Amino acid sequence: MKKITSILVLFFCIQISYTTQASGPVYKDKNAPIESRIKDLVSKMNLDEKILQLNQYTAGLNTNANNIGEAVKAIPAEIGSLIYFSADPVWRNQIQKKAMEESRLGIPILFGFDVIHGYRTVYPISLGQACSWDPALVTEAAAVAAREAKLSGVDWTFSPMIDVARDPRWGRVAEGYGEDPYTNAVFGVATVKGYQGKNLNDPYSVAACLKHFVAYGMSEGGRDYRYSDVSRQSLWETYLVPYEACVKAGAATLMSSFNDISGVPGSANPYTLTEILKKRWKHDGFVVSDWDAINQLINQGVAADRKEAGLKAFTAGVEMDMTDQIYAQNFKQLIAEKKISMAKVDEAVSRVLRVKFRLGLFDKPYSTVVDESQRYLTPESKAIAQRLSAESMVLLKNEKNTLPLNSGVKQIALIGPMATDKENLLGAWSANGKESDVESISEGLNKEFGTSVKINLAKGCGFDGRDESGFAEAIAATQKSDVVLICLGEKRGWSGENASRSSIALPVIQEKLVQELRNTGKPIVLILSNGRPLELVRLEPLADAMVEIWQPGVCGGSALAGILSGRTNPSGKLSMTFPLSTGQIPTYYDMRQSARPTGGQGNYQDIPTEPLYWFGHGLSYTTFTYGTAKLSATKIKKTEKLTVEVEVTNSGNVKGTETVLWYISDPACSISRPMKELKFFEKKELTAGAKTTFKFEIDPMRDLSFVDSDGKHFLETGDFYVLVNKQKVKFEVTE
Ligand code: GLC
Repeated sequence: MKKITSILVLFFCIQISYTTQASGPVYKDKNAPIESRIKDLVSKMNLDEKILQLNQYTAGLNTNANNIGEAVKAIPAEIGSLIYFSADPVWRNQIQKKAMEESRLGIPILFGFDVIHGYRTVYPISLGQACSWDPALVTEAAAVAAREAKLSGVDWTFSPMIDVARDPRWGRVAEGYGEDPYTNAVFGVATVKGYQGKNLNDPYSVAACLKHFVAYGMSEGGRDYRYSDVSRQSLWETYLVPYEACVKAGAATLMSSFNDISGVPGSANPYTLTEILKKRWKHDGFVVSDWDAINQLINQGVAADRKEAGLKAFTAGVEMDMTDQIYAQNFKQLIAEKKISMAKVDEAVSRVLRVKFRLGLFDKPYSTVVDESQRYLTPESKAIAQRLSAESMVLLKNEKNTLPLNSGVKQIALIGPMATDKENLLGAWSANGKESDVESISEGLNKEFGTSVKINLAKGCGFDGRDESGFAEAIAATQKSDVVLICLGEKRGWSGENASRSSIALPVIQEKLVQELRNTGKPIVLILSNGRPLELVRLEPLADAMVEIWQPGVCGGSALAGILSGRTNPSGKLSMTFPLSTGQIPTYYDMRQSARPTGGQGNYQDIPTEPLYWFGHGLSYTTFTYGTAKLSATKIKKTEKLTVEVEVTNSGNVKGTETVLWYISDPACSISRPMKELKFFEKKELTAGAKTTFKFEIDPMRDLSFVDSDGKHFLETGDFYVLVNKQKVKFEVTE
């Protein structure tokens, strides 16, 4: 009897607590379904509160020189979001407290920031990350960035940037994952997973933001903020591919782009923002405009004034206005004029609130405050950054086994503007990365080689300019050394936003330095740190070896030193083609072939046809021998799968890691298709002499179909090829 009573009492208590709890507003009830909480809250909000939820202002010192915006005088407690330029969680919590306690409904603010390749533990730029062909490692690195950002007051990062780009004059190639749609999709998804974790409301998850939606990489002439002539065919075949993959992976938000998409700017484009994103892909998060992008619709000639710009952007499908305050200043009038419906406002507000609820901001609005030593640059975080730096580096050339440096090397000349540089190894968009955190190339070498090797340091020249006064010292240092490492490259500000360059060659002074040192007759190793493919046609013949290190982040020095010493066997392969010269742009692996492919027809008269290095190029200290690719069948029906295998042997005498890139080709189709299309890749480590089989299971509809100009996929019968390494194997698809 006693037991029954205690059960009844327990049940009664639970019932009371739920009722009590339920007596408060539903939107504050953390046990209520999110959609019920949204509905309840929207029903309680007044017009001012709804409009402010659709606006993002800034807090803290704006560090982006490209974004000149008036500093927000006072932050309203009802603001929807802030770009948080500070790294102080305490100040962030003070602002949040104002929203939670001084506003009528206590709606938390969403704090966003550009965490692109690390927050404080900065790892390689995205273009370099893709050269690692290691998405799992990129997920780990993104998770480090998310944790550091979350502990610094940031709930939302404006990343990953997944704009396919084929024009290296464009500074923002540094921020994406290269020229291939599939590669951008795989690494975009890997980054979203790292940021958002298993659940958006996990303690260290932040909301991702896919950008810049869409086809920003097609910006005419590689210049920023420009017209992009993008056919619907290209839109679907190339530029939308990474976005669809990342939306399906659950990315919480997107950012609309600056560029014009064949006459309709990305930030006022109903086809991309509503028809595709919301109606077809069913995205239920929200879209934020890029900085001032709504206001810029006036300059793009599609809005007469700010009010019309706001109407066009909102009607097209941009829910949140980043910093130009157009929505805040014009929505009341637009609603009064019945140009914007309350239903559409409520829908937009619901999307913003949905992300906030999913992040858990209503129930846990405040950042956890821990000491900086626990927040940033932990040994585990740096280990991940170092691995990714090493795996992103690409051995472009290695004649006469110049690398790794052998035991006969007793003196190394370390020359060039990047030799001791720290700041530029961070690259563009380095969030709260600090120059003092970076290990320079020189420091990495000293740590790696210790006293076993004498390093003769001489700068030789600056990044640009005409000052050759340092040449003599560089020559002297080289003459007394066994090998010379010439560390060249770009300043971090030469890539990133609004950093387009008319030439992708390095400044003349850097090339002259190499020519001078070539005359010493010493073996030359070129180390390149840059944010885009470079024009190396004059430098390549002068170098015995070349290593592309990109902008590798805080651990770049030791990552490179490990490659130079042979502790690490380089495994990187290019995620973007290096044209022979600027004039050869655009040249990318998945072009259509010339209608007259023989004898170099359809190419330039004055330069060779081939680029210097194709997408996928990268050497190792060992050799990998490929067996004959074997198909599970030479003929399949459309509904059947086909497996292709290739055995790879490490035929050298050191352990190495090989990435096998699998392509398909469809030589006769209803529409012309690229010469080849990457559809799968796999990376494996092999000890010397070991062999392993790499497999690719072809799913015809996924891997062989083509898409038309409205996004419909078609799979046709006929001959196809699968390409791997230097092999091209035919098979047939039947009904
Ligand atoms: C910039 C960039 C965008 C960035 C945003 C906020 O103009 O285009 O990538 O996320 O503004 O800083």
